[in-house]
Amino acid sequence: MSAAGTEPNAAIAPRRSVTVRVPATTANLGPGFDTLGLALSLYDELVVTVRDQPGVAVEVIGVGAGIVPTDETSLVAKAIAYTFAAYSQPMPGLDIVARNSIPHGRGLGSSGAAIVSGIMAAKGLLDGIVDLDSSALLALATALEGHPDNVAPALFGGLTIAWTTDAGPQHKKLIVHRGVSPLIAVPEGTMSTELARSLRPTSVPHEDAIFNVSRSALLIAALIQSPELLLAATEDKLHQSYRAAAMPETESLILELRARGLPAVVSGAGPSILVLCSDPAQRLLAAELVAAHVGTPWQSLLLAVDFKGATVTLHPVDNAA
Ligand code: HSE
Repeated sequence: MSAAGTEPNAAIAPRRSVTVRVPATTANLGPGFDTLGLALSLYDELVVTVRDQPGVAVEVIGVGAGIVPTDETSLVAKAIAYTFAAYSQPMPGLDIVARNSIPHGRGLGSSGAAIVSGIMAAKGLLDGIVDLDSSALLALATALEGHPDNVAPALFGGLTIAWTTDAGPQHKKLIVHRGVSPLIAVPEGTMSTELARSLRPTSVPHEDAIFNVSRSALLIAALIQSPELLLAATEDKLHQSYRAAAMPETESLILELRARGLPAVVSGAGPSILVLCSDPAQRLLAAELVAAHVGTPWQSLLLAVDFKGATVTLHPVDNAA
């Protein structure tokens, strides 16, 4: 990470405080493995305040309370420390209060959101000392997450296409057609992204690659212009079938929804399901089918597309709590 133009060891005002808000994300969207992502109207919010004592104290309210670490080993704190280190800035002592709504281990980008929260908090805390532009934010977040498809929409909102070059990760943000009505079906169980990624094949048949190239291209058209094409555009042969045995309930419900004409796919690495409905009426049908599904219980979240992405608000030093 280039720290050119920054001033090493510049002091951060004590009691400086920032509020960060980061959306949930759904990645892959069917054929766009490790490439496509969508930001959703479900948020984690945290307040980070510089304190006199060294170290980090995290209070978690909501999802993850009593489970995630509450010291410098928390993912948010690690992302803050990583960003400070990338710009040769000394890590201050921090109090963090996190109000989390994004379910963990369900394929809704909770780890990406934690990483982006930390990086955006660091951006706010370093305001006036280091200028973190969108390229730097995406590079930092991708380095920590390992792939860009969740962190790009978490940072920038909307529908994102992400790709990597020798110069680092890149993204293009697109505005989704207003008819597109996402539904997320969340099961009780979790899925480890690490396990899901270990199930990827080392190579795929050329015809499967062509299949996904065509569906990915079609999916962009469907999402921004022609939602009626979403069922055909969400077909995939690169990842879902390889992971299906690890989440049989997910596969079973997806097959049921798709048989009824609903564009259902695994959300990220699963086990949640994303249904990219083409209008609100189709989404109501999807919610009814999810509720009537026999087997493990599913919770339906009827969400909007978030167009804003992550935000950081810097509080006046004098007013910081
Ligand atoms: N593209 C990623 C995967 C998203 O499916 O493994 C989950 O982190």
